[in-house]
Amino acid sequence: MKVLVIGSGGREHSLCWAIAASPLCTQLYCAPGNAGIAADAECVDIGAENVDGLVAFVQENEIEFVVVGPEGPLVLGLVDRLDALGVKSFGPTAAAAILEGSKGFMKDFCAKYDIPTAAYRRFTEPEPAKAWVREQGAPIVIKADGLAAGKGVTVATEVDEALAAIDAAMIDAQFGAAGTELVIESFMQGEEASFFALCDGETALPLLSAQDHKAVFDGDQGPNTGGMGASAPAPVRTESMAEDVMTRIINPTVAGMKAEGRPYKGVLYAGLMITEDGPQLIEYNVRFGDPECQVLMTLLLSDILIALIAAADGVLNSFDLRWRDEAALSVVMASNGYPGSYEKGTEIRGLEGAGGENTVIFHAGTTRGGDNQLLAIGGRVLNVTGFGANVKAAQEAAYAAVDKINWPGGFCRRDIGWRAVAREER
Ligand code: AMP
Ligand code: GLY
Repeated sequence: MKVLVIGSGGREHSLCWAIAASPLCTQLYCAPGNAGIAADAECVDIGAENVDGLVAFVQENEIEFVVVGPEGPLVLGLVDRLDALGVKSFGPTAAAAILEGSKGFMKDFCAKYDIPTAAYRRFTEPEPAKAWVREQGAPIVIKADGLAAGKGVTVATEVDEALAAIDAAMIDAQFGAAGTELVIESFMQGEEASFFALCDGETALPLLSAQDHKAVFDGDQGPNTGGMGASAPAPVRTESMAEDVMTRIINPTVAGMKAEGRPYKGVLYAGLMITEDGPQLIEYNVRFGDPECQVLMTLLLSDILIALIAAADGVLNSFDLRWRDEAALSVVMASNGYPGSYEKGTEIRGLEGAGGENTVIFHAGTTRGGDNQLLAIGGRVLNVTGFGANVKAAQEAAYAAVDKINWPGGFCRRDIGWRAVAREER
């Protein structure tokens, strides 16, 4: 089977790495890919949101299966275009990707189908939004309705901060059209967990749990990022909690989307807050988490390609996944300055000797320079992933590899996995 993966991050590298190991895959392409992906797939220079370019490539090269990594092309309707051509793909249609594409849609949908999430209101004008914030007080959460590259959420601890966030989105158009409408919701207290399920329109199959670290600095300090590291399995998820999430959140979502005429296929990523009243939905993503995907792929024993095709074909009800009875942990190495501005083109040395038996290094923002040297060109650049008998062992393996990498232009958190390790040591 000729397979095309769309995207260029560490998530897509881990997907390519796993798909390349499938006996079913005869040829693997990635658009646009990166310097690390080039070891597992043939990189094609077409941007992930260039839907016309991607469709043309699929036709010219008789691609048989397309795996879409990021949300952008999903919301733009890439899967719809491929469906129309009769080309199988993994990912939701635009009508289903709206679960991530519009927070307002998602909140109304949750209200209609009784899915637990924070109380909310939708606003299209700044003044009523501000009046509501003044009435509610802080803490309060302001969210741009549309896709804002992960930056559209302000968790305001003061009323003034919330008012400023409303101005930034609605008056200064900080997020462009994505912020002309806002969702304002109540603050939820608890520990966060990412929950993933493969969906085929009817059936949802839960994946192993993973825990992300969004803040940029150790001890969960500093601004939010796309994710500075992840570990799996997440000890915060117990069997009964997973059942609860499936019964109260995931299954009603799949059934509700079907009832709405928007059957959901692909991976459903529920960002959860584990509150005193049980799991509550923070948000939906219509793609794998990055870097959560990296730890999931290293722990998956089953053939990922067959699983993704089963989701596309609607036969997940007769499907099962097997996982290694181990833990994995991925440390994100990012360019100095991320998530703010950072220098591009700094050189990374020592990668060849850094990996070992218990590690795999996925690339995100990397490219090759004129002399084939490895250069950092993105914010998040490398995902140094270790595995071991438990999260502690995986953490040691990952950091041993990190310490062998010579990259003065980059940094990482030194405490990825701290919650999981603390639980293991209890
Ligand atoms: P989102 O982009 O919706 O995942 O939001 C980014 C982050 O903001 C989440 O990972 C949470 O840490 C935080 N967040 C979002 N909504 C809430 C809420 N209602 N209560 C508390 N924290 C929230
Ligand atoms: N790691 C968080 C995300 O992928 O959105």
